[in-house]
Amino acid sequence: MRGLKDKVVIITGSANGIGKCTALRFAEEGAKIIVADFADGSTTVEEVEALGSAAFYVQVDVASPESVKNMVDKAVESFGKIDVLINNAGITKDAMMKKMTKDAWDAVISVNLTGVFNCTSAVLPHMLEQKSGVVLTSSSVVGIYGNMGQTNYAATKWGVIGMTKSWAKEMAKTGLRFNCVAPGFIGTDMVKKIPDQVLQERILVKVPAGRLGEPEEIAAAFAFLASDDAKYINGTVLSVDGACTL
Ligand code: NAI
Repeated sequence: MRGLKDKVVIITGSANGIGKCTALRFAEEGAKIIVADFADGSTTVEEVEALGSAAFYVQVDVASPESVKNMVDKAVESFGKIDVLINNAGITKDAMMKKMTKDAWDAVISVNLTGVFNCTSAVLPHMLEQKSGVVLTSSSVVGIYGNMGQTNYAATKWGVIGMTKSWAKEMAKTGLRFNCVAPGFIGTDMVKKIPDQVLQERILVKVPAGRLGEPEEIAAAFAFLASDDAKYINGTVLSVDGACTL
């Protein structure tokens, strides 16, 4: 990918799953990685370093503006700038609407939606000053098409698309770019929580590709959108879903 070498990349939720895989992909491209997660990210850091790139772990709760400020301050102190933010941290608390509690609603909104607001707000002053930067956010096919039992999650994943498009319109002339990736069903811990019977009978039957996606396939989409190859792509949603939305 063009233009990723020596770029400084914050990836939230990169202790596990898609975020970890994305950290390794950007490391292969020569980027410097801030592994930002509520959970311990030291394994990701070790694997990034083994690929010859620089990295450090910072514990963050994206739902907390103070914690996010600390993450951004540490990134700037250590690497001097922030080129790319990947808003990847996300949670689910599924229930059918008639059983969904206000607590489950609030928890998912605070991480998946307010967390994206917090992290993007915190990197913006740095990116606007340097007149360059890329903000990428994990949406989901569930945001675009809805899903049974995921009122809260779908609201956040649709919400980040609206935020991203608004930012692209507001800041298209500043040199900054904002895009979403909308994964289909990817084989990570989040999807492994779905009972096997539900996965086979309700989900995979709707995926023309006939299989779950790989985290590497989402990481590749993030790498493309962050690269100079995508420099005229702004405010879009790239679905990576084995055609399950057709
Ligand atoms: P995962 O559950 O494997 O990893 C999520 C990471 O986010 C974890 O390391 C967790 O510790 C971290 N995290 C959770 N709350 C946090 C907080 N408050 N502050 C900081 N970090 C926090 O999830 P996965 O599957 O890798 O998903 C990554 C993103 O992709 C999420 O936004 C998810 O909604 C989205 N996505 C995933 C799909 C899938 O099929 N796995 C499909 C569509 C979207």
